Amino acid sequence: SEDGRALLLSRIKDVPDYPKPGVMFKDITPLLADPKAFAALTETLVELAGQYGATKIVGLEARGFILAAPVAVQAGIGFVPVRKAGKLPGATLAQSYELEYGTAEIEVHAEDLAAGDRVMVIDDVLATGGTAEASLSLIRRAGAEVAGVAVLMELSFLPGRAKLAASLAGAPLDALIVV
Ligand code: PRP
Ligand code: MG
Repeated sequence: SEDGRALLLSRIKDVPDYPKPGVMFKDITPLLADPKAFAALTETLVELAGQYGATKIVGLEARGFILAAPVAVQAGIGFVPVRKAGKLPGATLAQSYELEYGTAEIEVHAEDLAAGDRVMVIDDVLATGGTAEASLSLIRRAGAEVAGVAVLMELSFLPGRAKLAASLAGAPLDALIVV
């Protein structure tokens, strides 16, 4: 609802020039500290998980973990972490992606996803789309299906949505707030 969105938006703090000059950082810690706002966010994401028919929730390290874990618990489905490279002890699939300067790599335990899984990806922010796109590639390479991607915030002045379009292959991308 509009009221729900307004509540969430009111709990996201704009921090200018962080982590470097010219960047407006979107700080979600006030939202996390407000139990009504965090519960409302979780509830909305649980509804989307139902609409997607999701059987697994993937959260993207680190901020995505915070939003995704309560959704998995409340929806009664499993949580699968996609981690920055080098943090998972088992056999992993790895995917690199472009950063503004250089590249980064994320990984998932190969055995955590399989054919028949319908996966919902949750993260806090969609910016360039590089992180989300790499996660979709991991999900497909693990043999699972992408049920949908949900983010708290989409930065519409960046081409994340367009970048993700091909990898979504028709799956929904929902942003609760577009800035
Ligand atoms: C931030 C944010 C998203 C990603 C969005 O994560 O939490 O995951 O960037 O950017 P993109 O669409 O351009 O890929 P970051 O890697 O900074 O770290 P964190 O979540 O571990 O704090
Ligand atoms: Mg992140």
